[in-house]
Amino acid sequence: MPRKKLTARRHTLSHRVRYALRHPARVPRYAVRAGRDAWLRFRSPDHIAYYRAVMRSDTAASPDAAVGSQSHERWLALGAMQFDYLAGHGLRPEHRMLEIGCGNLRAGWRFIDHLDTGHYYGIDISPDILFAAQDTLVRCGLREKLPTLTPVRDLTFAFLPDAYFDVVHAHSVFSHSPLPVIEECFAHVGRILAPGGWFDFTFDRTEAEEHHVLREDFYYRTETLTALAEKHGLSARFMEDWEELPHGQSKIRVTHGPAAARRPGERLDGGETVSGAAPV
Ligand SMILES: C[S@@+](CC[C@H](N)C(=O)[O-])C[C@H]1O[C@@H](n2cnc3c(N)ncnc32)[C@H](O)[C@@H]1O
Repeated sequence: MPRKKLTARRHTLSHRVRYALRHPARVPRYAVRAGRDAWLRFRSPDHIAYYRAVMRSDTAASPDAAVGSQSHERWLALGAMQFDYLAGHGLRPEHRMLEIGCGNLRAGWRFIDHLDTGHYYGIDISPDILFAAQDTLVRCGLREKLPTLTPVRDLTFAFLPDAYFDVVHAHSVFSHSPLPVIEECFAHVGRILAPGGWFDFTFDRTEAEEHHVLREDFYYRTETLTALAEKHGLSARFMEDWEELPHGQSKIRVTHGPAAARRPGERLDGGETVSGAAPV
């Protein structure tokens, strides 16, 4: 299981020097990536445009690696881990799901297979990875499930309907997002989340100073993200059971906050109901 390095201060020079001494073989690749990223940042100072350019470059080399899997076996395993977790938390075929940063459907193809026709909606800032997602759909024989795959410029969800999605999911997306992007999502996700729905996202957790590496990887303290969600009227809780899985990131679940009115018997948080009746 990858141990979470919660106190590493990756942005400091001393950390980078120590890391280079421990892993000299990785230095040339890091140097090439740092040079490429500096050039892309120069051309696209806006974070979304910059990260879209990173994805374009990475997807051209390998769509699986672009979403963080160094082999197809890892791609399959990481998708299965996401699917099994949500299925274990009550994801049902009739649910409507929005996947933010769906990539090339590493987990998405499993969600599409599980959900009723037309119930999966994937969005991403990268048209290139969405083309790769279409290839995954064809390869997995899932055309008939008619999922929607849409490029987006931001996370305001302006074109999506109110109270529509039972489950919103963002795996390894906020680990690549500066705080204003996450806040934009929190400011708008409550509108599209169905009553009783839930929004799970992973993040790179630190217990030291918050930092980023090459503006590609962002590390946050749990309380920063839970407080930000609460500022936008949402409830947020750290998912302890995700920590048991072999994954380097942590997970938070966001639901409508206590202020949102709920009807008796309405599902809460993907399971229990207001009345306490067993979930169906
Ligand atoms: C590491 S990949 C993970 C993809 C997918 N969630 C998975 O687990 O396979 C991150 C994805 O999020 C997308 N992304 C990054 N920032 C985004 C944003 N602000 N809005 C939507 N998608 C974003 C990237 O283009 C990329 O496809």
